[in-house]
Amino acid sequence: MSLSIVIMAAGKGTRMKSAHPKVLHKLAGRPMLAHVINTMGGLHAQQEIVITGHGADQVEAAMRAAFAGAPLSFVRQEPQLGTGHAVQQAVPMLPDEGITLILNGDTPLIEAATACALVDACDGDKLSLLTIDLADPTGYGRIVRDASGQQVLAIVEHKDASQAQRALREVYTGVMAAPTGRLKHWLSKLSNQNAQGEYYLTDVVAMAQAEGVTVVAAQPRDEVEVLGVNSPLQLADLERRYQRGQAERLMEQGVRLADPARFDLRGLLQCGSDVDIDVNCVFEGQVDLGDNVQIGANCVIRNASIGANAVIHPFTHIDGDTLGVSVGEGSLIGPFARLRPGAQLGPEVHIGNFVEVKNSTLGRGAKANHLAYLGDATVGERVNYGAGSITANYDGANKHRTVIGNDVQVGSNCVLVAPITVGDGATIGGGSTIGKDAPAGQLTVARAKQLSLPGWQRPEKIKR
Ligand code: UD1
Ligand code: MG
Repeated sequence: MSLSIVIMAAGKGTRMKSAHPKVLHKLAGRPMLAHVINTMGGLHAQQEIVITGHGADQVEAAMRAAFAGAPLSFVRQEPQLGTGHAVQQAVPMLPDEGITLILNGDTPLIEAATACALVDACDGDKLSLLTIDLADPTGYGRIVRDASGQQVLAIVEHKDASQAQRALREVYTGVMAAPTGRLKHWLSKLSNQNAQGEYYLTDVVAMAQAEGVTVVAAQPRDEVEVLGVNSPLQLADLERRYQRGQAERLMEQGVRLADPARFDLRGLLQCGSDVDIDVNCVFEGQVDLGDNVQIGANCVIRNASIGANAVIHPFTHIDGDTLGVSVGEGSLIGPFARLRPGAQLGPEVHIGNFVEVKNSTLGRGAKANHLAYLGDATVGERVNYGAGSITANYDGANKHRTVIGNDVQVGSNCVLVAPITVGDGATIGGGSTIGKDAPAGQLTVARAKQLSLPGWQRPEKIKR
């Protein structure tokens, strides 16, 4: 049966007190709306329609970029006259048969299995609602049932509810699945005669009941799936719950997190066995950690692959961006190291404090332990790159490559002016500025000759 998905994302989000549209605020590094669209991708609907309004240009551009090629379309709702009015905007795009699943763009953690169960419960001829019992139902639409408790009669919005109805704990979560043909008919009959003067989507429930259409209710596996975000505090609360869930899943796989409350994953983290992660680490994009990898406290690691037995010491920043970073097996990185896009380190490489590596390949056992820069360089095996040395890779207009052979010793405080090649086994004397190729196996020094002046007198301070 054909499935259409409608995601409402036109609301202003006044309580966020932000210039940005609410649904673009990020949870785990990704816009809330993108979580919903991504999860719903798993349902393989014939079409997904997002209702936009506030900040529509921004919302549509962000989602088009994030989901290029997906069967995603956008319909604008201007002005915003309520949730029923929002879905009315999608009517011209909906077929006459099949099922329509309706969700909120500000409820990011809904799971595919829950949405599937709701669609199954609809079964093409029933109206199915996702509901939950809340200790504090304030603000939500209440589920009103018949005396037996079996039949759902209506949803009554908090502002329209009587005292007795307000005491009901079962609330509507904002997710429903309806037979599309019937839904279109019901939407055409909505009125705005209510406390808020809005067209309520929730009024379709009483219409279904009046027409003898069965209304069923299903519950989510976990409350977190239906928590909506209206304020920065709610966003932060949901973020912590989400992170806790991710931390628990990793720990169940055997990953040792020093403190699951101080762990943030904004993407995908793949771990081998016996991985240790200390406190306050942030992982972004796609990160792979091999067996026995140790990550020290306060590291930020994005789009990178870390080989088995590598140790990343505290305060290291690794950002692979689009090129990626790879760290070879048994390497030692940091503390306070910075690996930038295109850093490709072989096995047993050592990168120490305040060393920056960008778009460079380092062979097995190469070391740069202190205060150095390697940019656009190809570095051989067992190279020792001295403290304070840099590759001058940029001439003010273009970038150039530095090639350093195997077993090269670069002294401290050298400048290697690219393009340049240093041959295998060469030694570069400390303090040299090297502008021409240095031959293999030789000592190359390029600095002023040392002078000592016998009889030289230090000037004396003039007395006035
Ligand atoms: C809605 C439900 C309420 C339910 C609650 C769950 C209605 C009338 N009420 O109330 O029963 O308990 O969600 O969170 O549906 N939106 C638009 N256009 C509009 C208005 C809203 O796109 O004109 C979007 C919002 O961006 C949001 C969603 O619809 O994503 C829900 O809107 P909101 O104003 O938060 O509805 P509630 O009053 O919370
Ligand atoms: Mg709401």
